[in-house]
This record gives sequence, C-alpha cells and structure tokens, in this order.
Amino acid sequence: MARLLRRRAPFSPTNRLQTLFLSLSILLSLRLASGAPILLGAEREEIGGGELFLDILRDDAVSRIHQLGKVSDADNYLERTFFSPASLKAAILIQNWMEDAGLRTWVDYMGNIHGRVEAVNATAEALLIGSHMDTVIDAGMYDGSLGIICAISALKVLKVYGMLGKLSRPVEVIAFSDEEGVRFQTTFLGSAAMAGILPAAALNITDKSGIKVQDALFANSFDSTEENFAKVKYDSESVYGYVEVHIEQGPVLESLAYPLGVVKGIAGQTRLKVIVEGSQGHAGTVPMFMRRDPMVAASELIVLLESLCRHPQNFLNYNKQYDGVPAESFAGLVCTVGEISCWPSASNVIPGQVYFTVDIRAMDDITREVILSQFSKRVKEKCESRMVNCTIEHKHNANAAHSDKDLSLRLRKAVRSAMSRTPWGLEEDVPMLMSGAGHDAMAMSHLTRVGMLFVRCRGGVSHSPDEHVMADDIWAAGLALLRFLEMNVLC
Ligand code: GLV
Ligand code: MN
Ligand code: MN
Repeated sequence: MARLLRRRAPFSPTNRLQTLFLSLSILLSLRLASGAPILLGAEREEIGGGELFLDILRDDAVSRIHQLGKVSDADNYLERTFFSPASLKAAILIQNWMEDAGLRTWVDYMGNIHGRVEAVNATAEALLIGSHMDTVIDAGMYDGSLGIICAISALKVLKVYGMLGKLSRPVEVIAFSDEEGVRFQTTFLGSAAMAGILPAAALNITDKSGIKVQDALFANSFDSTEENFAKVKYDSESVYGYVEVHIEQGPVLESLAYPLGVVKGIAGQTRLKVIVEGSQGHAGTVPMFMRRDPMVAASELIVLLESLCRHPQNFLNYNKQYDGVPAESFAGLVCTVGEISCWPSASNVIPGQVYFTVDIRAMDDITREVILSQFSKRVKEKCESRMVNCTIEHKHNANAAHSDKDLSLRLRKAVRSAMSRTPWGLEEDVPMLMSGAGHDAMAMSHLTRVGMLFVRCRGGVSHSPDEHVMADDIWAAGLALLRFLEMNVLC
C-alpha cells in the first residue's frame, strides 16, 4: 500500500527529499522482507484521513454485490443455478468487472470465468483466488459473490496505482460456475473439473427435467465434449496456491467482535437421495392396517436421522461396535433433510413414491462414514418393517479439507497488518475457525494448497435473503486481500 500511495502523492525531487525517499524505500523493503507492516505513519497521512481505497474496496464492491444480487431467475427472490439464464447474465457482468480491473479473461468448458494478469517472471506458479457465482434458492447475495468481487476489487486497486505490471507471479481470479449443486445435486462442478477430480461421466448427470450437464453446456454454445472437458483441469505444477474469501455463514466472528477470520479446515460432506416406494392408493378406501405408505416411512426415516446426529453415542454404543469413538470426533456433526417430494402429490391419494435428500457433515471423515453406515443399516430395517422399498443414491461425497499452514499464516499476517491500519485499529489476534459449510476450496485442495478468509455476517445467517455483511467488513476483507497480494506477489 505504501508503494501505491507514493504514486498517488508525487513529490518534487529536491536532494533532501530524494535522500529521505531513498532511506524510506530501504526501510520499507527491509520491513517488507520481514513481513512487518510497511505503511508508515507519515504515509498514512497522505491517504487523507486513512481512507485506504474506500471507493474501490468498499463502495464499488458493495454496489457490485447488490447489482449481482439482483441477477436472478426468479422474480421475488435470488436464484442462480448452473447455466440458468440468470447465471449467464451474471457471468457477463463478472467478466466485464474483471476486464475493468485489467485482467485478461476467458471462460472454460465448464463455464468457470477466469481473469488473469501475468507476472514479470512468466514461468512463475500462479496464485489463484476465487469463489462461486451460483446461488441456492431464495439465497442471500453475499455467498460466493463476496469472494469474487473482493478479489476483483483488490486487483483493481493494483491496476489504478500502476502495480499490475509488477507482480512476481501471475494472479488469476476465478468465478466458479457451480458450488451449491442445486441444479444437478452434485456440488463443485466448476472447481472439481478444474482440480481434475470430476469424472467425465459427470457430463451425463441429469437435472429434474432430464437435461444433462453436457446438454446444458451445448445449448449455450459450449463445445464441452469429453476431450474439451479434460482441458478444464489445471496442472498442479503451474499453481502456487488457492485463496478464497467467503462470508462466514455462522456466528463465531460476530460473537468475537472481529470482522475477519482465517479458516483452519472445512467439514467433509455426503449428500444422498433416499427413494421410498410403497403402494399408491385411494385415501378414502384403503384401511390403515393394509397400507404401505411411503410418506409415513419417510417421516420415520427423517426423525431417525435427526436422532442419529443429535445423539450419535446412543446409537453407536448400541452394539458396542463403536465404543472407542471419542466424543470430540462428533465435532461439527450435522444432518439435514432439505428437500422432499412425493408422487403423485394429491391430498386424496396415498403416495406411491417419496424421495428426500440427506446432507451429512462432520469435521472427522471417519465419523461421517460411521454415521452414514448406521443410517443406511437402519433405513433398511425400518423399510422392511414398513414393507416399503427403499433405495439410497449417493450424490456427493467430499472429505474434510485442511488449510495449508503456510498460506494460513500469510493470510493471518495480512489480516493483522490490514486491520492495524483501519480506524478500528484492531490489535487482537486473528480468529482461526473451522467451516461447516462447503467451499470451492475443498475441491481446489486436490489441485493445490488452499487458504481461506471468512468475513463476519449478521447473526450468522446465510442461505437466506436475510444474509448480510456490513459494508465496512467488505472493505476489511478487500484490504486484507490487497495486503496479502502486496506481501506475497508484488515484486
Ligand atoms: C454450500 O454452501 C454448502 O455448504 O452447502
Ligand atoms: Mn452456499
Ligand atoms: Mn458459498
């Protein structure tokens, strides 16, 4: 930032000033090399009352988040799923913002948008920074968008202050096409393809209307043949690391009264579709004892899942098989049924079929597997006793991801350094958090080392239109990312 500021406030090169400037530069480079803050008191004055790029990092970023938050497939709420009409409009906006920040852009065969700036050293490994542009249904506007826009804003500051040509390694911002997995039930279509962990068979996954991933791509002039799909994958040797800024989606930072946190790791997750089939019939004529009602069976299975995840020990001790599982293994264990539907769905018909989704998460992968196997076993037992047929389809599985220690340390230093310059002057240690929510960083951890910054949100609310991040916290995130770039990729 000091170097940026110097450009903004040129001085007349008298001998005395030149000497002063030289000694300041030496002092600055020494402090930079040691990772110490480089903004000196005198220079802080130059930025006009500590404004610190308020216009780009806060005001423009907030206005862009609001703009993107209005790009929706629904009239009254925010919904933007993989290759929906709104997602294509959002992609154009994001690509324009990337270009405005001086990045060279392109879109890959899975619809990920890339914006890159090359380095002085053309062969250096690239720093990737990203998040996702899709949303859940009735979403908040910060989940995903915040990370993309903060990254673009930080690079825009570098461009405005003439520093984009002075990078020691390439920097690439990526807006991933799918993280939520709403349309195709499988998450990370964009980032997993880039990390090389998405099999080509994923092109044949269908949405509720029977449209394949590949058809959705072809329909939008993406020639996503298997051969081209393979080109989406990056070579890990060409990458330095992946950094993601994301809304926390939980209450920890708010409770600590700190705007930013560094993520230690991300819980693993499994997503299932459970299909329960019974006998369809007339609601008025089939006696209760003769029914094979899949709706009632599904209700029992949902309550069973809740009990299993609320009191896992009760279940796992049941046959002494898991006696040795320590209580802390269940940290972050949460299970959710978020979607349910039945056929034919009429009030005077006993349903013939019910399906519901299951989402199981835990910090510990073995715990998640144990819960999954217990759930599957008990589903079988319950379905037999209710005389219905049950099938469990596995839709998504991602092991817990751990942040890279070195990248996290660098992010922590950047946050501390940025925060000490803000009017809040926060001196406390930067909080370190675990993430219960999934992020593109999980998929990217198969390609390269990852690090994440969380941004405080109101009431810990997310996946809801009530999701909110204060403008000053968006600014704090932009400043921290800018500081990270300055400390790690500026020559
Ligand atoms: C993504 O937001 C997820 O964790 O489901
Ligand atoms: Mn989300
Ligand atoms: Mn997200």
